[in-house]
Amino acid sequence: MNNKIIIFDTTLRDGEQSPGSSMNMEEKLQVAQQLKRLNVDIIEAGFPIASEGDFDAVKEIASNVKGITIAGLARTSRPDIERAYEALKPADSPRIHVFVATSDIHLKAKLKKTREEVISMTGEAVALAKRFVDDVEFSAEDATRSDPDYLVKVLQTAIDAGATTINIPDTVGYAIPEEFIRLIRHIKSHIKAPDSIVISVHCHNDLGLAVANSLAAVGEGARQVECTINGIGERAGNAAMEEIVMALKVRKDFFSFHTDIVSEQIYPSSRLLSQITGIAVQPNKAVVGANAFAHEAGIHQDGVLKEKLTYEIMTPQSIGLPSNMLVLGKHSGRHAFRDRLKALGYELTDIQVDKAFVVFKQIADKKKEVYDEDIEAIVADEVFKWAEKYRLESLNISSGTDMLPTATVRIKIDSNSVTESGQGDGPVDAVYKTIASITKTKSRLLRYQVNAITGGTDAQGEVMVRIEENGYTVSGTGSDTDIIVASAKAYINALNKLEHKKIKKIEGI
Ligand code: KIV
Ligand code: ZN
Repeated sequence: MNNKIIIFDTTLRDGEQSPGSSMNMEEKLQVAQQLKRLNVDIIEAGFPIASEGDFDAVKEIASNVKGITIAGLARTSRPDIERAYEALKPADSPRIHVFVATSDIHLKAKLKKTREEVISMTGEAVALAKRFVDDVEFSAEDATRSDPDYLVKVLQTAIDAGATTINIPDTVGYAIPEEFIRLIRHIKSHIKAPDSIVISVHCHNDLGLAVANSLAAVGEGARQVECTINGIGERAGNAAMEEIVMALKVRKDFFSFHTDIVSEQIYPSSRLLSQITGIAVQPNKAVVGANAFAHEAGIHQDGVLKEKLTYEIMTPQSIGLPSNMLVLGKHSGRHAFRDRLKALGYELTDIQVDKAFVVFKQIADKKKEVYDEDIEAIVADEVFKWAEKYRLESLNISSGTDMLPTATVRIKIDSNSVTESGQGDGPVDAVYKTIASITKTKSRLLRYQVNAITGGTDAQGEVMVRIEENGYTVSGTGSDTDIIVASAKAYINALNKLEHKKIKKIEGI
């Protein structure tokens, strides 16, 4: 049996659907290009009928990310499937991913359909998708809470209509590994399908079992795993790609399967995603968390110094973790800066390098040591921020133990500069109130989080904020050696994203 595990990445579809993870088209394209460097097999780029923005993003990715399969999601309706095909047409290798729920609770409460109706919807939808593309995936939503015999009938219908991959989602993260194994075994022993049909799994993490269930299914014959970077996704998220890939790699002795993932691109992918979405990775997260390779206890440090293998089952280099040593300083030139960008996985145009280099020089002047993480923050802040309505021009703060913090902020709005002063409970509060007054935003601040990107009191601070207005939630990030400036940049970045959403709404999207 083939021992390659196909990695189907759904960061841009199931991941992006989760609250606070929304990305604009440029950001999605950037993530898709990184997924290509990571060498995933399939990128699920979106749900084209869901919105004009989703359609455009799928089309843009299909047009620009070549040599890889691009998938688009569709319900069993004709407009969904036609829209998915329209968006996927430019792809080198398009896949239409059709889904319908199969559990009784979904049939009764959500679809209001009988079991027989869902069977005919499945057959018709897969056959229609097949008229457009050869590669059709069918998913039985809520498979793990469906009657296994009925599930087999639906899957058989999809296979007979031409589906090439059948996906078994644990939509609500309910399954237990042993039970999931039994379900896969039941399906495998009851469906009649050629060997070329791929069994796929798609697990959610509500009970923290998404990766365990995915790996259990692989052991039982699943050959495609659906997952997301950093495990982002609905509610508690999806199976984390980095955990699946590294489990298969580190425990090759146990699984004897492999993926084609370039594991050294795992860390850059994780950082890029959290910088774009503003969703930080928890420090103790497996594989990509800040503490994943930190040995704190004296006895562990002693062991690692004597022999790394005492406490280290994989090397930081194997996931592309930057060495965190001094890479550049204020005397470094543009050439060295460009080389370092390349080593970190950024393919930038000359104009983008110039833009980032100006900021690098400013930071190098303030900070003696410029680390890889600083460079990533510069790129995220200066290069990949998109069309901006608001731009921070200057910021001054007076605060102390016996005075009311006062901020004076100058913001360029389109082409006019506006300056105002305001007070608040603390310096960040004063800045945020002043920015809110200048921009006249009605948004609510939902989350404010600050992290030091590197060690030391001269470290760059990275601020992530989440704001909400009229049901739209967006995240913003900003970094600077001054955390008040980083806070202002993050807030303004989020306001720019909100502005972008409002424009799309006015355009009727
Ligand atoms: O969780 C789920 O069931 C899904 C399907 C659409 C595959 O995301
Ligand atoms: Zn899902």
